[in-house]
Amino acid sequence: MAFSEQFLDELRGRIGLVDVIGRRVKLTRKGREHLGLCPFHKEKTPSFTVNEEKGFYHCFGCQAHGSVFDFVMETEGLNFPEAVEKLAAETGMEVPRDSLKSSESQKQRQTLLDVTEIAAQSFEKALHMPEGKAAHDYLVGRGLSEETIRRFRLGFAPPGRHHLRTALARENVDTKQAIVAGLLIQPDNGDLYDRFRGRVMFPICDRRGRVVAFGGRTLGEGQPKYLNSPETPLFHKGATLYGMHLAGPAARKAETMLVTEGYMDVIALAQAGFEHVVAPLGTALTEDQIQLLWKVVPEPVLCFDGDNAGQRAAAKAAGRALPHLKPGLGLRFAVLPSGEDPDTLVSRQGLTAMKAILDAALPLSEVLWHNETGGRIPSAAEDRATLEHKLNKHTREIQDPIVRAHFSRVFGERLWPQQVAGDHYRSRQRRSWTKRGARGPNIHITPSETAPVKAASERHEELLLAVVVNHPAAVDDVGEDLGKMRFSSPELDNTRQEVLKTLAENPGLERGALITHLIRHGHEGILSCILDVEAYGFAKPGAPLDQAVSGWNELFRRRQRQDLVEEIEEAKRASQENPSEEARARLNVLIKQKIRLDEEESVSTAFG
Ligand code: UTP
Ligand code: MN
Repeated sequence: MAFSEQFLDELRGRIGLVDVIGRRVKLTRKGREHLGLCPFHKEKTPSFTVNEEKGFYHCFGCQAHGSVFDFVMETEGLNFPEAVEKLAAETGMEVPRDSLKSSESQKQRQTLLDVTEIAAQSFEKALHMPEGKAAHDYLVGRGLSEETIRRFRLGFAPPGRHHLRTALARENVDTKQAIVAGLLIQPDNGDLYDRFRGRVMFPICDRRGRVVAFGGRTLGEGQPKYLNSPETPLFHKGATLYGMHLAGPAARKAETMLVTEGYMDVIALAQAGFEHVVAPLGTALTEDQIQLLWKVVPEPVLCFDGDNAGQRAAAKAAGRALPHLKPGLGLRFAVLPSGEDPDTLVSRQGLTAMKAILDAALPLSEVLWHNETGGRIPSAAEDRATLEHKLNKHTREIQDPIVRAHFSRVFGERLWPQQVAGDHYRSRQRRSWTKRGARGPNIHITPSETAPVKAASERHEELLLAVVVNHPAAVDDVGEDLGKMRFSSPELDNTRQEVLKTLAENPGLERGALITHLIRHGHEGILSCILDVEAYGFAKPGAPLDQAVSGWNELFRRRQRQDLVEEIEEAKRASQENPSEEARARLNVLIKQKIRLDEEESVSTAFG
């Protein structure tokens, strides 16, 4: 890196994180943190926290997270050296000499961006000239409106070897820069010429919407169908997603993001009303791209063709995501009818058909299961063991202990459903799987949906605990109530006590540290059970703290209500058996309590 750690530390020491963020976000102090409305997603109640001591901001709503440099980069659209220089200038610190190199590369970058922008404008212009008529007709023939064509800045590179070369020369663009930007090609002996010729042009933008590269499609049957810019200082194919600058903000609003395979899928879906769509550029989704997606939404939906190639691509993406899964961070997989892509599907059957396919999207665990089993569990124990071995190979890839335990449990229970383990949790989960098994292997795991009545109240207890584990700060609001409860299963109650004790002894403890502590103290089994990756919204680690707390309170009220109903029944029986004044008074008190609870409940909307 161009800046020394020493310099960066000193700079960090001089600038106040709260000051810098406070210029853009109205912050109020809460305990040792500051709280405000997140600048990275739309929200009405604050879930954006700033911790000066630790030097980080974190949003519980959209998971935005970072240092003071990240904040300036994100909010002002600067890269790292630019952010450092800006903050250094503000504090009056001199940027050490050896970091001047980075401002050189910054200038170089800007020059390249100027070149790609000039090229984009030249292609756009050509599309609307007589020479671009065939290309324009082609796009209209594929159902694109004029508005869509302009929004995605589609263009045309005329045939002939020197169109762009001439256009760039007219703008006094240095040919060396045009070569570095991947637009012109200089053969060893011979004449400089245009890379893109006779193609419909799709500009590829960075997250800020600046053109960094191009994809060019043949109008007819020529090969390759799409020609893309080479890797350049501006463009790293494996770390770029087509359409991200438009899809990012839309995805934060829609709280979901779709990943399709191609340029035209992104554009057709956007025109049909789904703007939260991106595509990798002709290769399998990379780890970098998965991380990019997770910065925007916790569970992006990948769309794949139902044919074999599509299934192989899905398996590949699943494999790449495994090591990086975290509770609440996952992928879903939507399978299109064989031979369709989202573009053709939407144009033939409309957005409703697409929505139905997305609704049926499967979580990652289901996709792995299905890939290995093909939906059938062999009956011979040896074959099951082989299958288990294959599944374990995937599971071992998962680095996060909670998610790993969850996957192992789900797979193990499906493979060996007849084995009844002594452990309370395992046996309850198994019951729900047996029912699920009867309906087919692909059904999404929702224990509370299928488990018997008693298990439903236990699920409530698990959720009450999950909220506090995922949001240790919630203990300030709910700790007292949680402390008065007693959970019906001894194991779960043990974990409840351990959580309360640990948080009481370590105020301000964060989720990760709490989980590590619980695992070290033998609570891993319970944790994996309560922290389902597919848990309820407000209990998820990504949920805003206030939602977590109100969800908790609502569940708590429900449980109190249930307890009251039982107590009332008992008091009724008692007063019938022994109709004393005292028994009647007790019954009255209980009924009044229940009325009050019912009223509170009808007011609350926290729990859907
Ligand atoms: P497809 O072959 O599925 O094309 O490639 P498509 O997106 O459906 O394109 P249309 O509908 O025929 O216009 C999917 C993606 O793979 C990349 C492109 O990004 C394309 O959108 N690709 C494909 C290439 O980079 N080069 C190629 O030659 C073909
Ligand atoms: Mn297509």
